This record gives sequence, structure tokens and C-alpha cells, in this order.
Amino acid sequence: MSVSPLPDAVARQYASAANLNLRASLHEKYSVNPQGFMPWLFGQYIIRPGDSLLEVGCGNGSLWKGRLDRLPKGCRLTLTDLSQGMLDAAREALGTPDFVTFTQADIQALPFPDACFDTVIANMMLYHVPDLDAALAQARRVLKPGGTFCCATYGEFGVSGFLAKNLAEFGVTDALNHSFTKRTGVEPLRRFFGDVRWAEYADALEVTEADDVADYLYSLTGMANLDPARRPAIVAKLRGLMTDGVLRIPKEYGTFMCRQGI
Ligand SMILES: C[S@@+](CC[C@H](N)C(=O)[O-])C[C@H]1O[C@@H](n2cnc3c(N)ncnc32)[C@H](O)[C@@H]1O
Repeated sequence: MSVSPLPDAVARQYASAANLNLRASLHEKYSVNPQGFMPWLFGQYIIRPGDSLLEVGCGNGSLWKGRLDRLPKGCRLTLTDLSQGMLDAAREALGTPDFVTFTQADIQALPFPDACFDTVIANMMLYHVPDLDAALAQARRVLKPGGTFCCATYGEFGVSGFLAKNLAEFGVTDALNHSFTKRTGVEPLRRFFGDVRWAEYADALEVTEADDVADYLYSLTGMANLDPARRPAIVAKLRGLMTDGVLRIPKEYGTFMCRQGI
């Protein structure tokens, strides 16, 4: 099966795990919800002994790191990503237990038979996919009847919107790709899955080092043209937005849980 290329900016962004790790570290350091998004997501999935699980766009495998031993007996996990660099990072993070396989694959053309997975997961990636309908059709095709498609994404009122609103004078725009969000994802999902629910993860950032936000900003795909010379002024502006040394930034994350329904 052919693997279509990632758009250039996305391919550059995910050539290695560096950008993803940098942004994850801001969330790890400053999120007010102590649970963490990945542990929360893992807790949303209903996994039974012997289930077959597929994650597409698995990135560096962080959903499973430290949690593989919590999978019920007899489960099989297939991890896929279009980027070989990401798959390498996932393999390094998780090792190679015999119930886990790693496959380079595009969600738009999955190299798996029909109806072979109990759960398909596509977290924080559907907004990158050029043909969303093809991706959703593939997710539905490889799901067993009664299986669940889980896809985490962000909402419009989060970090990116906050940065665009407060740093517009530096040319910072809303770098968020709006093609698959908490709001724009509902309608396409409903065309493929009869039962579509949203579960929200309540959180915010309370940042004490403005430099960390600047690092995050410069790592974003949409900010590739942001002038590095403006960085000190951006940091100063962020410091000015702090109250008692804390910059509070909203977050909006959650996951859709979809079934084919009746
Ligand atoms: C933001 S990362 C999310 C990684 C992981 N799911 C997570 O939640 O941390 C997006 C991932 O999707 C992958 N990706 C982008 N387009 C893809 C496609 N068409 N098929 C499969 N993976 C894709 C990227 O290589 C990247 O690893």
C-alpha cells in the first residue's frame, strides 16, 4: 500500500521527537491538573483481556510509556506513525515487548485488514491529515463491529489562542490548525460514527519562567518565520502579563469517543 508524503511543514516538525518533547515539557512543568493528559487519556479507554489495539500517529509513544504493564492479559498493541523518526523514538521509549508491533503507516491508507481492532486511537494528529474523510473511513474500516475510535484533540480556547491574542504585535498568529478541533471535529466524525461523545480534560498552565513559553512558541509549525531577534521583547511582554510571578494560560483538551452506533 502506498504511503503518501506528509506536508512539508508537518514532515519537518516531526522529523524527530525534539519539537514534540519541547512542547510536552511545558505542559509537564506547569499544568495545574496533577493527573496529566496521557494518564487521563489512558483511563478513558475500556480495554478488555485479549483486545487488539491500534494507535495511529503514535508519536514518541508517550501514551503507553510506563503503562504497558497495565494492559489486560493477552492484549496486542500496534503502534504506527508516518514518521520513521517518531517510530524510532517510540521504540526507544517502550522497548520491544512481544505484544507490541511498530509499523510505518499513513492513517489515510492503513495496511491492515478490515475489522481487526477493538480500539483505534488517533490522538492529536487528525488536524495534520490532508484527507480527513479518508482517515476516518480507514479508522472505521479497521475497527471491529462495536469497537471504539478514540481521537484526542484541542479546543480553540487554549495556549495558541492566548499567545496570538497577547503577542499579536510581534506577528504571532493563532498557529492552531482548526481543521479538527473540539468543535470542528464533531460534524465529520458524525458522518462516520453514529455515536460521538466528547470527554474534557480540565487543565490550565501556571507558568513562572517566560523563557519556557518563548521556547514553546518558536517550536510551533506555524511560527517558523518568527524573527529570533524579537525573542527578548517577547519574553519581556510575557513577564509583564504575569500576576504575582505567574502567567496563567488556558488549556482546552479532551477526546472524542466514537462508536458506529445503531
Ligand atoms: C502532535 S503528534 C501526536 C503524537 C501522539 N499521538 C501524542 O498524542 O503525543 C502528531 C503525530 O502524527 C503523525 N502523523 C501526521 N500525519 C500522519 C498521517 N497521515 N498518518 C500517520 N501519522 C501521522 C506525526 O508524524 C506525529 O508523530
